[in-house]
Amino acid sequence: MWVFLLKHRRYRTALLSSTTILVLLYFQSSVLVFNYSSYGFVSKKVPCACSICVADGGNSNWFSERYNPNIPLLLNSTNSALGANVSKWWKGLQSNAGNYTEAVDQLFSLFPDEEHYSDAGPDRCRTCAVVGNSGNLLGSHYGPLIDFHDFVIRINKGPTEGYEKDVGSKTTHRILYPESAMDLDNSTHLVLLPVKILDLQWLISAFTTKNITETYTDVPSTIQANKDKVMILHPEFLRYVYDNWAEGHGLYPSTGFLTLIFALHVCDEVNVFGFGATSDGIWHHYFETISTSYESGIHAGNFENETINRLQQENKILVLKGWT
Ligand code: C5P
Repeated sequence: MWVFLLKHRRYRTALLSSTTILVLLYFQSSVLVFNYSSYGFVSKKVPCACSICVADGGNSNWFSERYNPNIPLLLNSTNSALGANVSKWWKGLQSNAGNYTEAVDQLFSLFPDEEHYSDAGPDRCRTCAVVGNSGNLLGSHYGPLIDFHDFVIRINKGPTEGYEKDVGSKTTHRILYPESAMDLDNSTHLVLLPVKILDLQWLISAFTTKNITETYTDVPSTIQANKDKVMILHPEFLRYVYDNWAEGHGLYPSTGFLTLIFALHVCDEVNVFGFGATSDGIWHHYFETISTSYESGIHAGNFENETINRLQQENKILVLKGWT
């Protein structure tokens, strides 16, 4: 090799030392990022083991201004106290607010009382598919791709049976509320979106007395799901998504939008399926032909879509819209 052709020993030693330093720096740079602080250089671990990490604020100011890694995502008995602002806003969404503290006590005598998903770190690369219910999934052949993700998070009543080719068959999490509830298999996490205290009471009732059969409409008195996999979105998380990501548009964020932002917090890589209209501009579900609208007044569909597009532009998510 040409290195050894150098006659002068001094040059050869200098060259070998600098090559060694460069090689060391190269490997180190894939594990460490150097930040200059007033105390000199300090090392900071990269947020995950994927090639691009959602939580890495370094590559998008727009994202960093909105993303709060410390927000409580899921409710437990330790983090259940609500700040005055959150409490006022959340209780303002419901007509008959019940007793929140009582509901929380009952919830965590029934369901896991844990701190979930605090395992982010440089050794984890968790990939997630967020699957909405758009008709653009039909004919997409995305099934195997969706199932390839570590987490497959589905929403409301979106079925898999009969649609496996396009939507896959794996479901690790399903976000739902009483009015959109369906039975789950034993391995799926039921993730409740509590828009109201009655939703918490319904969840308790569905696994115990089964006596709540009505909210503002008829709801199932019970639900098939693994009690030990139940999770509940934190009201503070709902308010955070409303403030930081929906920027106060609409009354509260849509289930799909909340699910997507939830994924940004529990996953390292997020791919989004089944969001948006078909290429013909039709807004419907892949499992029924009734048209839907996402600019309802309750949810700010247009603003949410713009935010989703921006997340894609900032390389935080990939939105796959099918071919139809
Ligand atoms: O209609 P539903 O609320 O059950 O759908 C779940 C989510 O899927 C929505 O909140 C929305 O984010 C997404 N969706 C969509 N376009 C459709 C249907 C659903 O973006 N045509």
